[in-house]
Amino acid sequence: MKKLWKNCHIATMQAGQYSNIENAAIVTLGQQIHWIGTFKDLPADAYAETIDLNGAWVTPGLIDCHTHSVFGGNRSVEFEKRLQGVSYAEIAASGGGIASTVRATREASEEQLLASALKRIRCLLKDGVTTIEIKSGYGLDYANERKMLRVIRQIAETLPMTVRSTCLAAHALPPEYQDQSDAYIEHICNDMLPKLHQEGLVDAVDAFCEYLAFSPAQVERVFKTAQSLNLPIKLHAEQLSSLGGSSLAARYQALSADHLEFMTEEDVKAMAAAGTVAVLLPGAFYFLRETKYPPLESLQQHGVRIALSSDLNPGTSPALSLRLMMNMGSTLFRLTPEQTLAAVTIHAAHALGLQETHGSLEQGKVADFVAWDIEHPSEIVYWLGGDLPKRIIQHGNEVSI
Ligand code: NIG
Ligand code: FE
Repeated sequence: MKKLWKNCHIATMQAGQYSNIENAAIVTLGQQIHWIGTFKDLPADAYAETIDLNGAWVTPGLIDCHTHSVFGGNRSVEFEKRLQGVSYAEIAASGGGIASTVRATREASEEQLLASALKRIRCLLKDGVTTIEIKSGYGLDYANERKMLRVIRQIAETLPMTVRSTCLAAHALPPEYQDQSDAYIEHICNDMLPKLHQEGLVDAVDAFCEYLAFSPAQVERVFKTAQSLNLPIKLHAEQLSSLGGSSLAARYQALSADHLEFMTEEDVKAMAAAGTVAVLLPGAFYFLRETKYPPLESLQQHGVRIALSSDLNPGTSPALSLRLMMNMGSTLFRLTPEQTLAAVTIHAAHALGLQETHGSLEQGKVADFVAWDIEHPSEIVYWLGGDLPKRIIQHGNEVSI
């Protein structure tokens, strides 16, 4: 069924730029963009439906390419502790942090996890997000990682969004493996990952490369397993210290390395050469009151694609608005609004390996777009929070929000 969406301006985000088309129209056929261009060039055709967008600015549907949005409980009490001066690392060392969310997630049923995640993810959807990546990593044993990944698949069936699931079993050491981190990594590589993959629950593999999590050698072991299963790789790297995780990720042709505050010039060069996307997470930077900035200038100089994401998680970034993260990307990291919009559309699509189908508005790509009632696309980045008036179209259908 062909639908004509007319009377709009479009920031297509092709080639990572606004690439505006003013006085434009889009023709969708089923789930895809069939035609896009200026209204005066619209080919004469019959349309089953014509939708007037009333002069709105249309962008690609936003892509949140790094979230931990499925979890039990929350960590607001830790937030209070941190504000009294206890650090994230200290909380983790005393049994709090990720370990406390692991306890709450293990106790929760699939139904409970699904219900609480849907509430959070609906906030992102209402903000214009039509594609989301969600990680496991609060189960840390086969049954509980599987439970999380199954919930992620159920989210895909419930919400009008494209959902990618990432197995982050190598997020933290589970209590059963205290002081045996190598044995836990072997368990992931020999048992958990192959089984979960076989059950069709995994689209990518991630790990937390950090002094309070896993070493580069342990992460490399996980990467080798992912490679042997033909699964794409991502990595939490250089968030709290510099271990060269991002260079390692680049060596394994990772889709992305994420966080990156402590990365070196050498890491930047390695990522540029490999085409690995730098996913920056201003919510975690802000919430942890980090003072070390990711090396923006160097990333840009070397032509590394920069994506931004919410990192939605209970410990370091309880962020329910990607637009708020976009504002932070511009104010904290000095990305221009155009770069910021690219960071949550086409560059985020690259970070998920979805660049052929998602992330920009072009003929043949999926018809995921947002029609914003604004004067210029920079407004999407400019306003701090709130609910910007918009219409959301996913796979050619308007979503009721
Ligand atoms: O992306 N860095 C590790 N993982 C999460 C935090 C997880 C948590 O604290 O629960 C992050 O910041
Ligand atoms: Fe994360």
